[in-house]
Amino acid sequence: MDRRTRGTAPGPPGTFGARRNRDADWNAWPVADYLAENYRRLHPCDIGVIRHHSALYRRCAPGSLARTLELGAGPNLYPLMLAGAASRRIDALEPGAANIRYLRRQLDEGPDDSWEPFYRLCRSLDPALPASCAEALRTVQVVPGTAEDLTPGTYDLASMNFVAESVTEDFDEFTALCAAFVRAVRPGGLLLAAFMERMPSYRVGAGPVWPACPVDGTVLRTVFTPRTTGLRVTRLAKDRTLPEYGDTGILLLTARRPDTAGPPQE
Ligand SMILES: C[S@@+](CC[C@H](N)C(=O)[O-])C[C@H]1O[C@@H](n2cnc3c(N)ncnc32)[C@H](O)[C@@H]1O
Repeated sequence: MDRRTRGTAPGPPGTFGARRNRDADWNAWPVADYLAENYRRLHPCDIGVIRHHSALYRRCAPGSLARTLELGAGPNLYPLMLAGAASRRIDALEPGAANIRYLRRQLDEGPDDSWEPFYRLCRSLDPALPASCAEALRTVQVVPGTAEDLTPGTYDLASMNFVAESVTEDFDEFTALCAAFVRAVRPGGLLLAAFMERMPSYRVGAGPVWPACPVDGTVLRTVFTPRTTGLRVTRLAKDRTLPEYGDTGILLLTARRPDTAGPPQE
C-alpha cells in the first residue's frame, strides 16, 4: 500500500515521498542558531507556554512525581526547570549529539545567563521552585535516545515541546510519536505538550530544511482523543518576534493516560 492511502493518520493525503524522522541528521542539530533564534531572550510565546505548563506543575505537590520525562529535550532548559519542584527525577531524552553535549554542559557547568529570565518567570509562577536555576535542574538526567526507546508506563508525567510535529513530514509517524509519548506514562499519568501550529518543514539559520508536518487543533484531537482522558487543547497567537517558520501559532495540550486499559494505544 502506498503512503498516500496507508494507515489512519489524520493528516492530508499526499505524504507520499515525505521525509521521515530517520532521514534527518539529528546529531547535526544547529544548537547555537536554534538558541539564538528561539531562546536567548524570553519571547511572548515562551511566556505563554511557561504559564500554561506551570499551571499543571503547580497542581502537583513538591516531590510528588517520582520520575518525569522531557521527550526530545533539545537545548531548551525551561521545560526542565518547570519540573524542578514537582519531580524527583527528570529524564531529558534526546537523540542528537550536539544537543546532548549542550545539555550536559549546562548541567555540569551551570546554565547560561540567558536562561535566568526564564527561570525568574518559572519561579514567580511556582514558588515551590528552589532559589537557583542550577538547583532546579539538579535532578535532570540526560538520556540519549529516541521515542522508540521509551518503556511504556515508566513515568508519572511526560512533557513534549515542539517535537512530534517538528521531526517528520509523515503523519503516520507523527501519530506514532504521539502514541509513544502517551504510552510512556503509567495509567493515570499526566501529559503536557506544545506543538507548532500548521508549521511546514523549516530551516534554522541558514542550515538544512528539517522535516515537519503541519498540525492543527483538529489533528491533535483526532490523535489524542482515543488515547487520553481530560484532553484540553488551547492555542497561543503567532509570535512575530520569532523568525518566520511558517507556523500560525502554538497549540498547548494537557491530558491524562486513561486509568484502565481501554481505547487503542497503538
Ligand atoms: C524542534 S526541536 C525541539 C527541541 C526542544 N524540545 C524545544 O522545546 O525547543 C526537536 C527535537 O526533537 C529531537 N528528536 C528528533 N527525532 C526524535 C525522536 N525520534 N525521538 C525523540 N526526539 C527526537 C531533536 O533532536 C530535537 O532536539
